[in-house]
Formats: sequence, C-alpha cells, structure tokens
Amino acid sequence: MTILVTGGLGYIGSHTVVELLNNNFDVVIVDDLSNSEKFILKNIEEVAGKKPVFYPFDLKRKELLSQVFDAHQIDGCINFAAYKAVGESQEKPLDYYENNLFTLINILQEFKKRNISNFIFSSSCTVYGQADEQPIHESTPLKTPESSYGKTKQMGEEILKDFATAYQKKVTLLRYFNPIGSHPSALLGELPLGIPNNLVPYVTQTASKIREKLSIWGNDYPTEDGTAIRDYIYVVDLAKAHVKALQKLLNETSETVIDIYNLGTGKGSSVLEVVGAFERANHVEVPYQICARRAGDITIAFANADKAERELGWKAETTLEEALRTTWEWQKYLESRS
Ligand code: UD1
Repeated sequence: MTILVTGGLGYIGSHTVVELLNNNFDVVIVDDLSNSEKFILKNIEEVAGKKPVFYPFDLKRKELLSQVFDAHQIDGCINFAAYKAVGESQEKPLDYYENNLFTLINILQEFKKRNISNFIFSSSCTVYGQADEQPIHESTPLKTPESSYGKTKQMGEEILKDFATAYQKKVTLLRYFNPIGSHPSALLGELPLGIPNNLVPYVTQTASKIREKLSIWGNDYPTEDGTAIRDYIYVVDLAKAHVKALQKLLNETSETVIDIYNLGTGKGSSVLEVVGAFERANHVEVPYQICARRAGDITIAFANADKAERELGWKAETTLEEALRTTWEWQKYLESRS
C-alpha cells in the first residue's frame, strides 16, 4: 500500500511517516518545506531504516500534484500540509483559507478523478471552540472557532464530509488536542519558526536560556492553581493513532465512511503543572512570570478519547513527564547541530 503524506516533513507528519514505514506502508511525501527542513528527511530514513519518496513543492501547484498521482499508485492520503499559527491566521486570514483549503481541494480532485478512497484529515480540538462540556466528546456541538486557522479546520471537515457523501469515499477526521514531545531517538521533533507561540516549545527554549522567562498567560482562571488546562498528547502516540485509523479505513467494507475521533489523553494539565513536570523530568529550571490572559484563550479543554480506544484500539500511553523529557533531548540535539 502506498500512502501520500502531505506535510510529511512537518512535526506530526514526520513522526507519522516513521510509524507508517514501520508498519510496511510505502510513503510518498509532498512538502514545500515552508515549516520544516531537508535534514528531517534524512533523519526519518535513519530512524525508520527505510526511505520515503519525497517531492518538494507547494500543493497549490495542481499540475505537479497530478504528476505525483501519475507516478505512483496512491491508495490513500494523510493530509498534514497546512498553516497552523493561530495568531498569524488572524493577521493573514486569506493566506490561511487559500493555503489550507485550496491544497485540500486539489488532492480531493485527484482522488475523485482517479477513483481513490481513504483520506485522513488532520483536524484539531479548535473546531469545538469554547465547548460547553468537559471532557469534550466527538458529539459535543461545534462552535465557531476563535481564529481563522480554526475555521479552516472546521471548513476542511465540512468539505470532507460532502466529498465522502457525494462520491462514496472513506474519510477519517482526527481531532488532535495539544501535541507535544519528540521522537525517542531525538532525531525528530518540532521546529518552531521564530518566537514560539505554543507552551512547550517556549518552556523548552526558556530552559535552554534562548528565552529569558516564560510568560504564563493568566493565573486567574477558575481552575485549582488558576492557570488554564489543556490535554497534552505525546506526538508518537498521536502518530500511532494515524496508522490505526488508516488500517481501520482500509478494512472498511462500506463505500462511504465518515469517522471522527478525538485524540487526547483524557487528562487535563494546567500550565503550572506542565512547567513543574518539565523541571522534574529534566532537572532544569524554567523561570516564569505571571502575565495577563492571552486573548482568545479558553479556560479548559480536554478530550474524552474513549471512541478511539473502542474503535481503533488506540490509547495514549506516554506520561507528560516522559513526553517532556523527549522534548529536552530534541532541544539538545538541535543545539548540537548549530
Ligand atoms: C493552540 C490551538 C490548537 C492547536 C495548538 C497546538 C486554538 C484555540 N488552539 O492551542 O488548535 O492544536 O495550539 O498547535 O486554536 N501558554 C502560556 N505561555 C506561553 C504559551 C502558552 O501560558 O508562552 C498557555 C496558554 O495560555 C494556554 C496553554 O499554555 O493556556 C497552551 O497554549 P498553546 O500551547 O499555545 O496551545 P493552545 O492555545 O491550547
């Protein structure tokens, strides 16, 4: 089986490519390197002991995409290629809609034209917006997301539901909570562009003294320690869920399938708990200051991931401390390269 992985050199994409190769799938990556670097390809090969095919281009270039489908018998796609910076999406909404949705539609057009099924979409818990219930189930009503990035994820889901229904296709929407951590080999991980917006890359760079202090955005939330709560899921656990979801999709006998799964640990951790776990796991200090709340942040979001356990036989296994230990190893690797 040959799987097209768009954004396969990105953070979650690269970890998933390794898991696919470990499970004997052939992998064709299309990635324009807008948020990755070429050495990730070499490191994927080193970790998996196998070589994915790699095409460096922007998926908006339809003619190049079509040539990939001419050259390979593609059996399915996992679509990671997307812009993902929440703040940036507010400043450049058109770039986000154009990039995240046109690229998706281009791939789906090829699927339709060539009669291919089996599509897995990288979605996000951001589609729930400020949910009315915790933990969040797949059936929890979706609200309008705070950001244009979030809206591209919600629209992507709608496009895929219509695609599956109209053309009898099999589709899985995976809603990730907060992915963290790096590969245990320390050869793969997140490459934040510029100053990190997300908590864990910021904590890591503070521990390594690239940043002076972490700013904790608010300690007046109605939670036990006053800081906001999220569900931090280890990236390798997340990558494994993609393989399980793909195997289920490939085994489905119905022509039309629309499956939706939350991927999280089912456990919420506060910002202060993350900082404490990082310090304990790595025996380093993370200086911080308490600041005002960040606009658009919600108090609490954590998953009910029982459906993924029931139907995919998948469960998050790695502890927060272990995930944060791998992050630190990756940071040391990055510093040894520069
Ligand atoms: C955001 C996106 C989510 C995406 C995730 C990972 C939304 C609403 N959320 O989640 O879709 O999957 O990024 O890319 O679109 N924090 C600090 N100091 C910092 C950074 C963060 O205190 O320097 C706090 C935040 O206020 C928040 C928590 O840490 O309470 C997590 O923040 P972050 O890592 O940015 O993720 P989310 O905003 O939850």
